Amino acid sequence: MEWGMKNRLSRIFKSDGRTVMLAVDHGYFLGPTERLEDARKTITPLLPYADSIMLTRGILRNCVDASMNVPVVLRVSGGASIISKDLSNEAITASIEDAIRVNASAVTLSIFIGAEYEHQSIVNLSKLVDEGEKYGIPVLAVTAVGKEMVRDARYLGLACRIAAEMGAHMVKTYYCKDFEKVVNGCPVPIIIAGGKKIPEKDALELTYNAIREGAAGVDMGRNIWQSDHPVAMIKAVRKIVHENVSADEAYEYFNSIKEEIVVKT
Ligand code: R5P
Repeated sequence: MEWGMKNRLSRIFKSDGRTVMLAVDHGYFLGPTERLEDARKTITPLLPYADSIMLTRGILRNCVDASMNVPVVLRVSGGASIISKDLSNEAITASIEDAIRVNASAVTLSIFIGAEYEHQSIVNLSKLVDEGEKYGIPVLAVTAVGKEMVRDARYLGLACRIAAEMGAHMVKTYYCKDFEKVVNGCPVPIIIAGGKKIPEKDALELTYNAIREGAAGVDMGRNIWQSDHPVAMIKAVRKIVHENVSADEAYEYFNSIKEEIVVKT
């Protein structure tokens, strides 16, 4: 692997090979998502605990200070919204030059396996990998976003494998039963999304199970910043990802610190 590519990946995946990526890109198709309406207010207190941050160039430029030192995973796909006919009708929406301009450590896009615009999204991925390889910028492929699909090991395994075959350097997917099968069939690191907000204990359980079954970390959004205690939550997630604590221990830790952390607004 080329030096720049290796260096960028090592900024995202820490020395233990794992990462806590903070996902705040939801607005690119969901608009002002609950508790991400004021993105700066949501992001700022969480940044010190994020190994990397996934977001669009608009939120990056307007809501994040350029002096921060957290690796940026830049969302470069879009073109559909939650109220459009088909969420899968995406194109590449930012150039590799702009990714370089904002000092991105990686670029990311979605692929929509089984959806109407599957072909287009896979071709988008291949082209983005070509662009990324030119400049040593890794590509994160996001799989399985959308409403109508069964997120089981067969489907997620298919989606992750296709992403890796097209050259993605890392893949984001969802945790599922028999998750090891998804991991075993995918030769690049897999990180998991949290999905819709669930109770903190359950989200920590999900994180623990995914890590135990081979995930290289999380790319988590709503289960962190929709918590009433987002800083305590990201710190508890870190405990599992980087310190291998159990879900129960992480939940105990969450409860022990949640009242202490006062977020200044
Ligand atoms: C979806 O396309 C976005 O990329 C989100 O980043 C993703 O769904 C992860 O966020 P959450 O943990 O809220 O599911």
